[in-house]
Amino acid sequence: MAWYIGLMSGTSLDGVDAVLAEQQPGRPGLQAHHHAHRAFPEALRAELLALNHSGVDELHRAALAANGLVRVHAELVQALLAGTGLHANGVRAIGAHGQTVRHRPGDFDGTGYTLQLMNGALLAELCGIDVVCDFRSRDVAAGGQGAPLVPAFHAACFGAPGRHRAVLNLGGIANLTLLPADGPVRGFDTGPANVLMDGWCRRHRGVAFDADGSWAAGGRVDSRLLARWLAEPYFGRQPPKSTGRDLFDSAWLDARLDAAARDPRDVMATLAELTARTVADALRQQAPATGELFVAGGGAGNRHVLARLAALLPDVQVQSSAALGVPPDQLEALAFAWLAQACLDRHPGNLPAVTGARGARVLGAIYPAA
Ligand SMILES: Nc1ncnc2c1ncn2[C@@H]1O[C@H](COP(=O)(O)OP(=O)(O)OP(=O)(O)O)[C@@H](O)[C@H]1O
Ligand SMILES: [Mg+2]
Repeated sequence: MAWYIGLMSGTSLDGVDAVLAEQQPGRPGLQAHHHAHRAFPEALRAELLALNHSGVDELHRAALAANGLVRVHAELVQALLAGTGLHANGVRAIGAHGQTVRHRPGDFDGTGYTLQLMNGALLAELCGIDVVCDFRSRDVAAGGQGAPLVPAFHAACFGAPGRHRAVLNLGGIANLTLLPADGPVRGFDTGPANVLMDGWCRRHRGVAFDADGSWAAGGRVDSRLLARWLAEPYFGRQPPKSTGRDLFDSAWLDARLDAAARDPRDVMATLAELTARTVADALRQQAPATGELFVAGGGAGNRHVLARLAALLPDVQVQSSAALGVPPDQLEALAFAWLAQACLDRHPGNLPAVTGARGARVLGAIYPAA
């Protein structure tokens, strides 16, 4: 029996999710026991958001933002340990994703890069636990997208003989894992989920997100606007593919809004529809036999988007990842605990059929506690 901690902060920039998980001999994957979440202090959130674009003295600012991020991570680790009575030396490793501020695999010089702010040395120092981080770079070095990395974990835990399943994560970006009854596991980012909806909500309502999707549910979809957004070439590209705020940010949206007077609520409804449509279209095209879709991520709380998904996919049973035994807000963090274990055991963490890498690779950089 071994314990792991997974720490995830995604493109929504809402904060950090942490899970304490156990590896039980003879059972696949990891079992989550405790979960904790911390919202980012507003100044840290604003700085992490700003660092998604080039700016003055950005190396210095990125280094300090990484330290700030690590302090939030360390608080969560302490909270998990205090809540369970477990001592730091009882935890084999922390898997910390870090905060993505640039994601450009394959670009510029043909290799490109993906950049997750993190200070693994400081996290190991503050927690006294081995830290594994920088999971994506090795896959990018091997010619892959470096994303998504959760499909290997989904396959290990949720694949079921005779069932055509899919797992959807609705974070800042939406990503799908396809777990067919036969054939290879695949996965890719479908496009924006909360990243655009949250931005619109902040701008027009001054709140971080549209709780339950109730604001969107009261609006009307603008079909001309939706058609314009769906013309984005990313949606038509074949996998492997991945994306982030590098493409889908407020500038993307502003460039595709015209001067027509619109109720902001209708734009919100159209953004929710964009998320549901791009997921449903991708699922129909890439895995038409899918019978069960399990939804995770904060967006699983968006009842409007889930209802639209169910309506667009009448032959698919759409349900929360809780039906698989993992609450939606724990799945991504649990995956990074699992990836930390894979790294320490020198098992590959990527699936080349998903990321497009030249081969299977052990992912992550290790910062030993002692
Ligand atoms: N009750 C809710 N109703 C609607 N949306 C919600 C609700 N709860 C959370 N969310 C959305 O979920 C987001 C956070 O989701 P999550 O933490 O999974 O995303 P993330 O941090 O971007 O992760 P990743 O990109 O790695 O998947 C919030 O920003 C918000 O938009
Ligand atoms: Mg989050």
